[in-house]
Amino acid sequence: MSIEQCVIIDLPVIHDPRGNLTFIESNRHIPFGIERVYYLYDVPGGAERGGHAHKKLQQFIIAMSGSFDIIIDDGFNKRRIHLNRSYYGLYLCPMIWREIDNFSSGSVCMVLASASYDESDYFRNYDEFLKAVQDSQ
Ligand code: TYD
Repeated sequence: MSIEQCVIIDLPVIHDPRGNLTFIESNRHIPFGIERVYYLYDVPGGAERGGHAHKKLQQFIIAMSGSFDIIIDDGFNKRRIHLNRSYYGLYLCPMIWREIDNFSSGSVCMVLASASYDESDYFRNYDEFLKAVQDSQ
């Protein structure tokens, strides 16, 4: 898996003077079925989230409000991506180490996930993640 596979996906926008509307359908706008939704909010200034990778989980991350940065790392290359709109998001394939920081005040980070919560799907130790990446080459 490579950070090149982690792409920004633009979502449909129904423009309306009463307020815009965006929608997301499983396997149509994003390349997986949505099994779980969670969100980060009330993040204190300077806090960092993430700091892990997933073995199989696919995710799609949207800045529903405000902004933040996601640093993605496939064990070889790293990239920092700024998210600040609710009409696009970042697709994360499995085996990508991610950190999320630079949260603006009042920001909401919504994550659509391909599976239910499963602690055994996590790499929470960076060296173990790197070893797994190297072993898979
Ligand atoms: P974690 O995934 O480490 O959060 P982040 O990536 O934002 O730093 O999860 C933090 C805690 O929340 C951890 O104890 C597991 C729990 N959790 C659930 O119970 N269900 C979930 O769907 C998620 C994402 C986390």
